[in-house]
Amino acid sequence: MILTNAKILINERIRIKADFFLMELAAPEIAQEARAGQFMMLTALANDSPFLKRPMGINAINKQAGSLRIIYQLKGKGTKAMSHLRAGEHIEVLGPLGNGWKIKDDMKSVCLVGGGSGIATLLPLAVELQQKGVANIDIILGGKSAEHIICLEEFSHGGNTMIATEDGSLGQQGMVDIYFRDNPNYDMVFSCGPTPMMRKAAQWALSHGLKCQVSLEERMGCGYGVCMGCVCETKDNNSGHICYKRVCKEGPVFAAEEVFFND
Ligand SMILES: Cc1cc2nc3c(=O)[nH]c(=O)nc-3n(C[C@H](O)[C@H](O)[C@H](O)COP(=O)(O)OP(=O)(O)OC[C@H]3O[C@@H](n4cnc5c(N)ncnc54)[C@H](O)[C@@H]3O)c2cc1C
Ligand code: FES
Repeated sequence: MILTNAKILINERIRIKADFFLMELAAPEIAQEARAGQFMMLTALANDSPFLKRPMGINAINKQAGSLRIIYQLKGKGTKAMSHLRAGEHIEVLGPLGNGWKIKDDMKSVCLVGGGSGIATLLPLAVELQQKGVANIDIILGGKSAEHIICLEEFSHGGNTMIATEDGSLGQQGMVDIYFRDNPNYDMVFSCGPTPMMRKAAQWALSHGLKCQVSLEERMGCGYGVCMGCVCETKDNNSGHICYKRVCKEGPVFAAEEVFFND
């Protein structure tokens, strides 16, 4: 875990109505350690409390250039402050944090299901799966409209991309589950996005006996396991008992069967 004052290389709006911004940072030490599915904490405001950093999933890792990318959606005070920063300015960043996606060497066929800003976190996973030579990578992306489907071109290089939009402005009209086939045959389903979407993906996978990983979002204080601000209830697989886990430390990626999908 590294705390650094990273130079902002790019910070630009990439979607007008859906309010998505892309930020690229020079942070060589974090980039060296970062893995797909991990996140960083960013201090959006110069005088903010260190406990009010904002968690953002890593969207691209360039170890050679020493840079990292995030895609963030405007929500409130913190993300608004981030959007006002300019290339050349600096931002305090802590990372890489969390466990990341678990990728096994023997995976041959996988399905990625993403929605909203969760799509951003799936991109480095798709890249790594492709580099590992996974033969079949199905990618199902969903959102309100075409504006909400980010990184589409980059995903298209790595897999079979299927799009569902609620208004039908891109791909098929509907939610991601219109692509959930009967009798799927995947070594793993990976999902990141709104809770109802991850719940559907998990139910689909588990009901067909497939393994599934989901990446959870919780409000966070510290981001490295100290404040207990991000604790969530999980099921112990062996005993069935409820236990408590920190999304920032034991997560954000969990086995779907451990998770209670509370909206
Ligand atoms: C591990 C992790 C990875 C994330 N990755 C991304 C990402 O790649 N891109 C992205 O756009 N967002 C991501 N988020 C969500 C992002 O952290 C929040 O949207 C951000 O902190 C909001 O800050 P704010 O000050 O603008 O909003 P606030 O003023 O704090 O809140 C505005 C609204 O956003 C909601 N919100 C605030 N924090 C969170 C949170 N941590 N999770 C869910 N909802 C929240 C609040 O309930 C409120 O409705 C991630 C969150 C986590 C935990
Ligand atoms: S955010 Fe502090 S313990 Fe997870």
